[in-house]
Amino acid sequence: MHTASDSGGRHLRWPTRGISFGGDYNPEQWPEEVWQRDVELMREACVDFATVGVFSWARLQPTPDTWDFGWLDRVLDLLHDGGVRVDLATATASPPPWLTTAHPEVRPVDERGYRYEIGSRQTWSPSSPIYRDRSLVLVEKMATRYGGHPALALWHVSNELGCHNSRCYSPDSARAFRRWLQRRYGDLTELNRAWGTTFWSQHYSDWNEVVPPAASTTFGNPTHLLDWRRFCSDALLDQYLAEREVLRRITPDIPVTTNFMVGMGSPQSLAGDMNYAQWAPEQDLVSTDHYLVGPATGDGATHHRLSFSADLTRGIAGSRPWLLMEHSTSAVNWQPVNRAKTPGEMLRNSLAHVARGADGIAFFQFRASDAGAEKFHSALVPHAGTDSARWREVVQLGAVLRRLEPVAGSRVEAPVGVLFDWESQWACEQDGHPSRLMQPMAIAERAHHAFSGVTCDVIPADADLSRYADLSRYAVVVVPAVYLCSDEDAARIEAAARAGAQVLVTAFSGIADRDDHIRLGGYPGAFRDLLGVRTEEFFPLGADETVALDDGTAARIWTEYLTVSEDVEVLARHTEGHLQGVPALTRRPVGDGAAWYLATVPDTQSWTRIAEAICAAAGLDLHAGQHADVEIVRRRGENGSWLFVLNHTTEKVTVEVSGTDLVTERVVDGPLTLEPGSCAVIREDSADTGARTRKADA
Ligand code: GLA
Repeated sequence: MHTASDSGGRHLRWPTRGISFGGDYNPEQWPEEVWQRDVELMREACVDFATVGVFSWARLQPTPDTWDFGWLDRVLDLLHDGGVRVDLATATASPPPWLTTAHPEVRPVDERGYRYEIGSRQTWSPSSPIYRDRSLVLVEKMATRYGGHPALALWHVSNELGCHNSRCYSPDSARAFRRWLQRRYGDLTELNRAWGTTFWSQHYSDWNEVVPPAASTTFGNPTHLLDWRRFCSDALLDQYLAEREVLRRITPDIPVTTNFMVGMGSPQSLAGDMNYAQWAPEQDLVSTDHYLVGPATGDGATHHRLSFSADLTRGIAGSRPWLLMEHSTSAVNWQPVNRAKTPGEMLRNSLAHVARGADGIAFFQFRASDAGAEKFHSALVPHAGTDSARWREVVQLGAVLRRLEPVAGSRVEAPVGVLFDWESQWACEQDGHPSRLMQPMAIAERAHHAFSGVTCDVIPADADLSRYADLSRYAVVVVPAVYLCSDEDAARIEAAARAGAQVLVTAFSGIADRDDHIRLGGYPGAFRDLLGVRTEEFFPLGADETVALDDGTAARIWTEYLTVSEDVEVLARHTEGHLQGVPALTRRPVGDGAAWYLATVPDTQSWTRIAEAICAAAGLDLHAGQHADVEIVRRRGENGSWLFVLNHTTEKVTVEVSGTDLVTERVVDGPLTLEPGSCAVIREDSADTGARTRKADA
């Protein structure tokens, strides 16, 4: 059985057969005569999955004492008759104006004390008891009314929890923060120790003195700030858990999820405010939303960022299949300039997610709105209607996904594990660090990019690495600027090297413990012995500065004064400046493997060269003849194996494969030429057939 969850002895079904396909469906925006037509169009496009009711609270409960479920009853019946499985929202995402008018204290407060006005969405404080109470009444009503409806396949708690309201500094939040700290530390003595409050006369003598770190005179206390980020994530997770508890009590057999925003960040934070490594184990199936941000080509190209985010989603899902709850058929409407997708790009994006473990592809939203804040956002049915290239591509995508049905449930093969730690990223977003340019998530993305010729898992390095992955299964383990590291995780990383992995640690890893206290005696404290190196001082570089190493590397962002022990091989040294002759890339044999240290941030070419050397030592062929912008990923399951080949270039490329291409339904045995921007999914005759690519004209 294709399961959504088998954790805790619960065997819950995946919402649909095969790869789910659909999106947010908001029929309340349209007169009822449109609904029947919508379901006909869903059938035409093989849509079998719809998320319903996300922003329906005000429609379902128009006043405190009146409820209106009739319209939603009819929507669910229609969808069921049309063969569409429903991901039903608890509808708690946006409280109606009557609630936030009657109870202004529900609305979140920013760091300068301003209480947000109504008029947008998600205007609720994660720590508001009134919001919690009223939202759970709604969840109970939804679960009771629809728990037995045959269309119901999945519960969708709230929506993108924390998208706009993750940091609230209200009095409710201050009280909840203190309770959270009391649970974490027990007493003020322990809090004062963890926060290092002897510095700057910050000693606390009464719990009421402890407040959220709102705007103040200058830099805040680092551990106070880090705990605040932990608390804010936990406060939102609590809302999820409270809703889930109601749902599980009433409908124990229906899986529950909430849609994450993995890799999307926020205006304030590269990694966002929710530590999804901690949220994921609470989901019956992990779902996430992903929108393209950034340039279409170059180093930060959107397809590289998409693959990092998809691999991280699979990482937090413990390698199990996950669901892409939202992406866009074309342009979004929330960037300064909203680029429309080129022909074939939507299929390519969708297949990239499937390649990396998604067993469902959904979009915001089914029918493009004619009014409201998102009226210029693309949809499956565009403003132009069905006589449009966009709709024809949607129908084509539905047909391709239907042919991929046997892929569902299979797993992605990845010989490289790249660690990523939300808390390290949060710590490095603070003021008072050696360089603002040293951002762990950006470094992890660069490392992932360098190894993209072989597939990488991105593994959460959150408190207990062993919760997510057994590092011994990787030929290569990358530790990219994992700034905070526990002794236990440092030992796990060392054990992976002893067992035979090539472990690459990059600069600014293992610097502090989980309280954000520096590990003394020379950097990088947690990995000094493993690497056989000792750094006395950092010498960060300016944004436009580079320094040359003797292996041709252009070092950026970061350098350090490093000495090495006798059993360490120096692979690159500084050629100039006061660090001339100082090692910057080293390798130490450890057990059956090795520990490499990269004491800087290399340019792209050098990154690739370093990845090549590490892969060679691990017996992996990094490129397998591959063009850097041709994505090749294999999924393997009980029913066989599938090779996804995505040509992100503007040239034809030729791939050597053997099997049936499920995109074109053609049998291939030997060279397959892919047009610019096109894709193939090869059902392989033999999974041992490696893929070799070259430019068609080469
Ligand atoms: C988010 C939300 C959706 C919609 C889209 C637009 O993902 O969940 O409701 O606003 O963004 O891109």
